[in-house]
Amino acid sequence: MNAKSNWNIPVQTASGHYAVHIGEGFLESTGELISTKTKLHGTCAIITDSKVEPLYAGTVRSSLEQAGFRPILQTIPSGERSKSLEVAESCADAMISGGLDRSSFVVALGGGVVGDLTGFVAGIYFRGIPFVQIPTTVVALVDSSVGGKTGVNAKGGKNLLGVFHQPTLVIADPNTLASLPEREFREGFAEIVKHAVIRDASMLDRITPGRRENLGPLIAENVAIKAAIVEADEREQTGERALLNFGHTIGHAIENAAGYGEWFHGEAVSLGMVAALRISRLFARLPQAEEERVVRLLARLGLPVDFRKAPPTGDLLQAMRSDKKFSEGAIRFVVTQKLGTAQLTSEVDALKIAEALESLR
Ligand code: NAD
Ligand code: GLY
Repeated sequence: MNAKSNWNIPVQTASGHYAVHIGEGFLESTGELISTKTKLHGTCAIITDSKVEPLYAGTVRSSLEQAGFRPILQTIPSGERSKSLEVAESCADAMISGGLDRSSFVVALGGGVVGDLTGFVAGIYFRGIPFVQIPTTVVALVDSSVGGKTGVNAKGGKNLLGVFHQPTLVIADPNTLASLPEREFREGFAEIVKHAVIRDASMLDRITPGRRENLGPLIAENVAIKAAIVEADEREQTGERALLNFGHTIGHAIENAAGYGEWFHGEAVSLGMVAALRISRLFARLPQAEEERVVRLLARLGLPVDFRKAPPTGDLLQAMRSDKKFSEGAIRFVVTQKLGTAQLTSEVDALKIAEALESLR
């Protein structure tokens, strides 16, 4: 019997129901999938970045045209610095010039940067038009294309300007990962390790460093974890969705303190998880062997684990103060007492964070 090769994972939230269609070669069927699985029609904008455009925009564009859609193409510079209000405005201007109106839609073709930015533009354009996610990085396939968190960075912090806006459809084609450079490929596994730590420790044994083929099952498993959490707490109100921030409080601070683009998101999250694991061991009784198990896997995945390379502790604490997860001076920190589970705590203050970070240097 053939192994399963495609998946259709529903995401049911209060603000919308949609499906994540995962399958090798689905990019070529973009137009057909959008016309058969949604009510979208007419004019649309494909927003992509300068590295993804020459690889995949032609395929997506002709598939959309064959299905009767009228796409315009808008290409932004690749990289985290494009997650800005200026670039969002330039996309909106191109959409206005291209004649997109409130019946139009947008297609995000790229990694998490394109997805977050495009979702934000779609969320504010004419007070909100639909968008389709076509993720092309590991981060985007397993995490950012699902859940409707969209936005851009402010000078004062990461993702501080944004809206919740769920996609209408997600088309996930694992074949796009073949063209990802090694460093970009590796960084995506930080979010997979995060899902394993907070929800399913057995997944830690199913991650094979370096393997690029047959990633469909691992992607589907991760999308299912993310979908379940988003369904339970779409707007991050009960604390459940906040568990997805494991490793991100310090990870975002590293990205901010070092200057956006210096560290890839997944690399910063890897170091952020090294710190969160140490904090969990010191203040939430995570056994040392469990801390070491995850750090060893991160290292085998080629992700950074040496905290001495991170910006100084004072700079990180300063960056953390403008994080959304800080509320009235107190941080809601995600710890794990046992791999496969996670909890929010307000017991971890700046002093404890500093003590843990210094113990890693
Ligand atoms: P990215 O979008 O910058 O992509 C990484 C690099 O790979 C870029 O240079 C891009 O041009 C290139 N690229 C993309 N697809 C390619 C392909 N198939 N072949 C060759 N090159 C390709 O970064 P990312 O890691 O995908 O995403 C990181 C962003 O996602 C961060 O801004 C992070 O905050 C955000 N994020 C959001 C959520 C969410 O829930 N919204 C979750 C996780 C991460
Ligand atoms: N990536 C965190 C979240 O979607 O909530």
